Amino acid sequence: MHVLQSKKELQVILAEWKSKKKSIGLVPTMGALHSGHLSLVRKSLEDNDFTVVSIFINPTQFNNKEDLKKYPSDLSKDSALLTSVSDQILIFAPSKLEIYNGNISSKSFNFNGLEKVMEGEFRKGHFNGVATIVELLFEAVGPNRAYFGEKDFQQLQIIQKLVQQSNLDLEIIPCPIERESNGLARSSRNERLSKPTREAAGFIYQMLKAAKAKFGTENAKDIRDWVSIQFNENQLFELEYFEITDIDTLIPVNQVQVNKEYRAFIAVYAEGIRLIDNIALN
Ligand code: PAF
Repeated sequence: MHVLQSKKELQVILAEWKSKKKSIGLVPTMGALHSGHLSLVRKSLEDNDFTVVSIFINPTQFNNKEDLKKYPSDLSKDSALLTSVSDQILIFAPSKLEIYNGNISSKSFNFNGLEKVMEGEFRKGHFNGVATIVELLFEAVGPNRAYFGEKDFQQLQIIQKLVQQSNLDLEIIPCPIERESNGLARSSRNERLSKPTREAAGFIYQMLKAAKAKFGTENAKDIRDWVSIQFNENQLFELEYFEITDIDTLIPVNQVQVNKEYRAFIAVYAEGIRLIDNIALN
């Protein structure tokens, strides 16, 4: 398993692959890999001749310093996990200096409002940080395809918009949410939950499924109010937001229209750890 830290070294290998017209898939991650990430990696291996997995805990997308400090990190565990999937993977694990060249800051983006709601509202500057690093990774790797999980559906829509606005020649491949056996969406942050809370956190997905069952017969406002009451009655979890939005604009709606697709989005705190999830409603 190759682990490269410098863009120059990476580009030497990539140049050789590209000269042979080989296709390259990129799976951007912040490490602490779990089976959700591995499903993206497997999809990339299926679709492309070579796969690059980037591992970089991007400081500019953390609005909360404590969250950044506590973000799990174990490169040797991650690389062992990737080796168990395939030995055809290149890991790009740059330092902060290699990426930001001494200036750890994000660019300012305008994604027509996609960046302002939900995660954008509660994590100020988050999507500027995400778009900055993703753009830098696209530049460094020049992939034919890049893989993003639908767990971060708003991020996925923003990256699609970034590709469209900058006219980038690559395809974004959305990958379905992987869940633990109780339905909790897989996330590197789950590792920080105590065992009983992690087990109980299946409640978040149960609420999304209940919202989906109500969708179509009850209006969005009533569903939102109902979800809010369920969380008020549950001591373990604190609801930050629950929204039903059109999947293209991500603008929360009260009334739904025919011929449009909707999703429900949720952010919850458990033991001080922030968890997000979403579900397609129709
Ligand atoms: O989804 C993530 O893990 C991160 O936001 C990403 C896309 C790797 C950028 O740092």
